[in-house]
Amino acid sequence: MEAKTAEASKTIMTDLVLPSETNPLNNLFGGELLARMDRAASIAARRHSRRIVVTASVNHVEFNRAVPLGSVVTVEAKVSRAFKTSMEVYIDVWVEDRESGMRTKANEAIYTFVAVDETGTPIAIPEIVAESPLEIERYEGALRRKQLSLVLAGKMKAKDATELKALFA
Ligand SMILES: CC(C)(COP(=O)(O)OP(=O)(O)OC[C@H]1O[C@@H](n2cnc3c(N)ncnc32)[C@H](O)[C@@H]1OP(=O)(O)O)[C@@H](O)C(=O)NCCC(=O)NCCS
Repeated sequence: MEAKTAEASKTIMTDLVLPSETNPLNNLFGGELLARMDRAASIAARRHSRRIVVTASVNHVEFNRAVPLGSVVTVEAKVSRAFKTSMEVYIDVWVEDRESGMRTKANEAIYTFVAVDETGTPIAIPEIVAESPLEIERYEGALRRKQLSLVLAGKMKAKDATELKALFA
């Protein structure tokens, strides 16, 4: 299977924040943002694998900045690393200022997707080629984040998480 660039999976979704999508403070409801990120990330994972993909895990979400009603929100997703059947997808969320058009980073998240066949069985996917400095940084950290996610899910013993343990050595 031929490796593919991270850039080839890049997915950008831009949308408004409508009244039905806000919390009592008139900011974007967290669950709505999670859904938008899940949609963009699943398209990125599908573009990389060209398979059916399912969300296996939400590894990390930062709600750093509230997103007010009426904002233009851009969700950018890219596969940061592919393993045997699973992919880490990094998501950056930007909010656009109405007057200046300047974009400010609002949130960030990391999701894991698994490529499956028609029966839901995990299936092998191509490797990722990381090119830019940011892609390389995210690629290099992905294995320890995968190990942390597996340990937290009870699917890996902490003693076997060698890449993760190396952080504390
Ligand atoms: C995701 C799913 C296919 C994994 O099935 P499984 O039986 O655990 O399969 P495996 O143990 O072979 O794991 C498959 C891959 O997922 C990875 N994985 C599984 N759970 C993970 C987790 N919590 N975090 C990170 N990676 C995980 C495994 O490490 C493996 O990766 P690799 O092949 O790249 O090394 C299965 O749990 C599933 O279908 N879940 C439901 C998905 C879904 O419906 N999502 C939407 C929620 S509403």
